[in-house]
Amino acid sequence: MKPKVLITEQLPSEIIDFIGEHCNYSLWEHDEKIPRDELLKRIEDVDGLLTSKDSVDEELLARGKNLKIVCDVAVGYDNFDIEAIKKHGILATHTPFVLDETVADLVFGLVLSTGRRLTELDHNVKNGKWDKPVGEDWFGTDVHGATMGIIGMGRIGEKVARRATLGFNMNVLYYNRTQKPEVEKKLNVTYSSLENLLAKSDYVVVLTPHTDQTHQLIGEREFNLMKEKAFFINCSRGQVINEQALINALHDNQIAGAGLDVFEQEPINKDNPLLGMNNVVTLPHIGSATMKTRFDMKMSAAKSLVAGVTGETPMSIIKELGN
Ligand code: 8YV
Repeated sequence: MKPKVLITEQLPSEIIDFIGEHCNYSLWEHDEKIPRDELLKRIEDVDGLLTSKDSVDEELLARGKNLKIVCDVAVGYDNFDIEAIKKHGILATHTPFVLDETVADLVFGLVLSTGRRLTELDHNVKNGKWDKPVGEDWFGTDVHGATMGIIGMGRIGEKVARRATLGFNMNVLYYNRTQKPEVEKKLNVTYSSLENLLAKSDYVVVLTPHTDQTHQLIGEREFNLMKEKAFFINCSRGQVINEQALINALHDNQIAGAGLDVFEQEPINKDNPLLGMNNVVTLPHIGSATMKTRFDMKMSAAKSLVAGVTGETPMSIIKELGN
């Protein structure tokens, strides 16, 4: 009897076919998220779940009596309750590595868009406001040779640091739970306290996972430490910052601008003040959103799923499960 799995993420047919070779599957084939009650009903008779947005918590795990594995189509798995997963003794995987370069590209897209005011000036030109040679009021801020502060020097942080040092001749400071001498040597980056990084950086880039330790790590105190001419970039999770404190810092011109791919609430609330600020670039959580990378993420999760329900050891088991 083939194992049965539940898939609540849109998958290309090639990947569904791959899963179908090894499993019977139940698909939620809609763009919008599967309703919670429908999810809790369907989880009851499956051996595995492939998702990217659903909360995998005690309530779901208690209903999923046959569950052997849950697979996140994401590198960040803050939608997984790790203690509950451990308690129920099941496997959990995510999709690191395959998206690192793609997310690092987007980080630099936000660095260049904020520093050189790309989206703001694009709007000005499209709205017919370019009627004379550009004056200082439309000038931007250099990226090359500036100081970048990376908060969270993980795999993606390293790729951003490489682009910054080798590509843009930037001075890079980093703050991380642990110091990384091998990265310092390889990329000539400097370990720093959070306070020093915030005070010295022209571009502050947040790339930490969202955990209990990093929840609202950046708030009023931290924005107050930043330079008035500095830009704030967030490509991790909205909950790693206090969004109201950011709005206040921008409103009071305490910092020069922000480039945001993630928000406390996603999709963003239509009346969020950030949407009315010209010096803020807002993106719809597209860090990993390229055709190739999303395919690779989905195939990576599918392989983990099949391995997990057929008794094989899956790749990319989350580190908290100790493998
Ligand atoms: C995901 C991401 O696409 O991988 C992550 O952690 O944030 C994105 O790549 C997103 O989480 C899907 O909801």
